Amino acid sequence: SNTTFTMIKPDATAKGHTGAILDQIIKAGFTIKAMKWTKLTKEQAGAFYEVHKERPFYGELVDFMSSGQIVAAILEKEDAVAAFRTLIGATNPAEAAEGTIRKQFAASIGENAVHGSDSDENAAIEGNFFFSKLERF
Ligand code: GTP
Ligand code: MG
Repeated sequence: SNTTFTMIKPDATAKGHTGAILDQIIKAGFTIKAMKWTKLTKEQAGAFYEVHKERPFYGELVDFMSSGQIVAAILEKEDAVAAFRTLIGATNPAEAAEGTIRKQFAASIGENAVHGSDSDENAAIEGNFFFSKLERF
């Protein structure tokens, strides 16, 4: 598929990295099909990360993702899911490749600056979580 979903996470918006991250996403050839700047409640963050609810870090993840402002966006590019995960780098910034968004902007495995969908199916589910048909093109 040509579509993926991303969030700029609360650590990155708080540090003022939103503009730099969006600039890198656009320069990497992604088209922004929908975008909003918002803040999740704990309930909303819990629902978004429902797939991780059995993982030991679920509570920390939900607290972190509802702790501040985020930017959610639907992105388009050929082979978008894989291309975007390459651009952002490994979950743990210590393991992320040089030049990736997480290498540049992430502080830790938890506070890692950006989200990227891990499959076409999840990209659709996650995009639909944030955006109605009227909010995208
Ligand atoms: P996302 O694009 O955010 O989904 O990251 P990912 O696909 O690279 O990682 P994964 O889906 O496995 O984990 C989801 C998110 O949970 C990560 O991005 C981190 O924010 C957080 N996370 C993962 N592992 C840990 C951990 O060991 N500790 C903490 N505190 N958070 C973690
Ligand atoms: Mg993931």
